Parts: sequence; structure tokens; C-alpha cells
Amino acid sequence: MTLSDIAKYFFKGKIAPDGVAVDFTMGNGYDTLFLCSLVPEGKVYAFDIQKDAIASTEKRLAENGVTNATLIHDSHAEVKKYVTSPINAAMFNLGYLPGGDKSVHTMTDSTLKAVSDALDLLAIGGVMTVSVYPGHDEGTREGNALTDMLSRVDRHDFSILQCKMLNSPTSPFIIAIERNKKG
Ligand SMILES: C[S@@+](CC[C@H](N)C(=O)[O-])C[C@H]1O[C@@H](n2cnc3c(N)ncnc32)[C@H](O)[C@@H]1O
Repeated sequence: MTLSDIAKYFFKGKIAPDGVAVDFTMGNGYDTLFLCSLVPEGKVYAFDIQKDAIASTEKRLAENGVTNATLIHDSHAEVKKYVTSPINAAMFNLGYLPGGDKSVHTMTDSTLKAVSDALDLLAIGGVMTVSVYPGHDEGTREGNALTDMLSRVDRHDFSILQCKMLNSPTSPFIIAIERNKKG
């Protein structure tokens, strides 16, 4: 059972095929490809600050004949510049590009801004996952800041779950969020 498999589980049966999805950390495009298959009649936006990630994802989508994604070379903290419609599915996979430059990774301040904007944009019934890697200093800071911010969100508006290995304190963990119906 991988962290990636667990993250995908939270979307099952919840997202309409014509929905809007956002991959906030495109990387090598595995999650972008997953989101494209989740909303085959809809639209996917994917963000990354690295050109290598865009190239790798473009290649992966082309190899799979996928055409419903827009790849954006910008920080996910700028999501509101590009996405104005409600988001039905959102994924964050924090940290650095596997096989890439480890010194380029997600940072606490921009991650908090992007997650907060994603909460604003999440549609009623929309689902979002954040995979956190606390095995390095910035990852630890991100994890602590995120759990602190999200533990203060009103439970009537959002259901927020943390999923982690109890017997491995520094191993990755997932935060899964669903926007609740009102009333
Ligand atoms: C763990 S990787 C993502 C893996 C990816 N989801 C996949 O399926 O291959 C994290 C990615 O976040 C990107 N990243 C770092 N800071 C970012 C930011 N401010 N906005 C968008 N992407 C960022 C990195 O460049 C890296 O490619």
C-alpha cells in the first residue's frame, strides 16, 4: 500500500466525470494523469515551478493520449490567477521532484497560501488531498504549519482527516479534506 494509492482512494465515487481538478504539484505528472482520468470530460489544471516538471508531464500525458489538462509554469500560490471556477478534486504532493534537484522543494509559506486558496475554491462535495513528507526540515515545518492551520478550520464547513503511520513518526502522511454540504 503506497501513499499515492491511499491519496487516490479518497476521490473514489465522489467526483463527476465533467468536473474541474487541480494538481498543485505536477512533478513527473503521475497525479496529473490520475486527475485527467478522474474527470475525462472535464478540465485539469496542473502547477509547477520547474520547467523539467512541465516537460516530463507533457510527455506523460501525450504518451497516454490525454488532452484535457492545462500545464501552468507558476507557483501554486498563484492558483486564483488561473482557476476561477469551483474545484471538485485537488491534489498536493509536497516536497521535491523525484529524480530532480532536491534543493527545489515546496515551502511552508507558499504551501499554506495555496492550501488556503484551494479551500476557498473547493466545491461543495469537493475533495482535496495533501501528501506531506516530514522527513526533512522544511517538510517538518510544512507538516506542523498545515496541521496547525487545518485543525482550526470549522468542522461544519470541511471534514479534515489526517492519515499517518503510527509506528513511523517521520514517515509521510496524508491530509484528506472534503467540503461539506451546508445545513
Ligand atoms: C513530490 S513532487 C510532486 C510529484 C507529482 N505529483 C507526481 O505525480 O509526479 C513536488 C513538486 O512540487 C513542485 N513545487 C515546489 N514548489 C512549488 C510551488 N510553489 N508551486 C508549484 N509546484 C511546486 C516541485 O517542483 C516538485 O516537482
